[in-house]
Amino acid sequence: MSPLEGRTALVTGAGQGVGAGIARVLSEHGATVVVNDLFADRAERVADAVGGRAVAFDVTDLDAVRAGFADAGPVDVLVNNAGIPTAGFPQVDFKDSDPELWARFVDLNLYGVMNCTHTALQGMCERRWGRVITIASEAGRVGLPIRVALYGAAKAGAIGLMKHLAHEVGPLGVTCNALALGSMENIPGPAKYPVPRKGTGADVGATCAFLASDGGEWITGQVIGVNGGAVT
Ligand SMILES: NC(=O)c1ccc[n+]([C@@H]2O[C@H](COP(=O)([O-])OP(=O)(O)OC[C@H]3O[C@@H](n4cnc5c(N)ncnc54)[C@H](O)[C@@H]3O)[C@@H](O)[C@H]2O)c1
Repeated sequence: MSPLEGRTALVTGAGQGVGAGIARVLSEHGATVVVNDLFADRAERVADAVGGRAVAFDVTDLDAVRAGFADAGPVDVLVNNAGIPTAGFPQVDFKDSDPELWARFVDLNLYGVMNCTHTALQGMCERRWGRVITIASEAGRVGLPIRVALYGAAKAGAIGLMKHLAHEVGPLGVTCNALALGSMENIPGPAKYPVPRKGTGADVGATCAFLASDGGEWITGQVIGVNGGAVT
């Protein structure tokens, strides 16, 4: 039997990039995959490719999230992957940033994670089984000289949420973890990691598949580096 057979996994922001890779790997491991994206056409394209179902919604809109989950049906595995703002990702020193920019990162990377996690936890806790996996970044756990303080702060918030939730819902059979990614293949530039290449959706998907399996039951509240061995 495939390790995730009988489980339904919803992956946010899975219409391209890392999320599409996660959706594919979870499907290969036997999960029924619900592919979310802000853009329905992207979600449908990936859902067709991985044999899943598309449910489009904006993770920053709580009402839309609730409606999307109602449409998706019971979700056993939530992967909070949406995290790159579609309105653009300016790299700017915080002291020079326009305060109007701040919400762009916090809404997506913290409120988006809270909206989806709060919605998913209701059913997971009732059924006494669930996995919440939040795709974070090394920028969320260490300071980096790349002018991404707003992004890093929002990712750090999501990491903190996972650590605290692990205590709240562990007794109810639900684990909550974060993955700290290094640079992925859709980012230009060299990869100065011990494993000298950029990361792929398959790398991240493999880690998600393990955490989602029954073998991941005793791993919770962790931040796992999926980063080619970057020293943090
Ligand atoms: N690419 C990297 O090098 C890198 C590094 C570290 C962490 N990460 C994290 O990995 C995750 C995926 O990154 P990626 O590079 O694949 O991003 P991407 O921009 O290639 O794809 C993200 C998808 O999310 C969707 N999306 C954006 N806002 C949304 C919303 N409000 N609701 C639903 N869907 C939404 C987009 O439409 C897009 O299809 C993010 O959380 C990102 O922060 C990426």
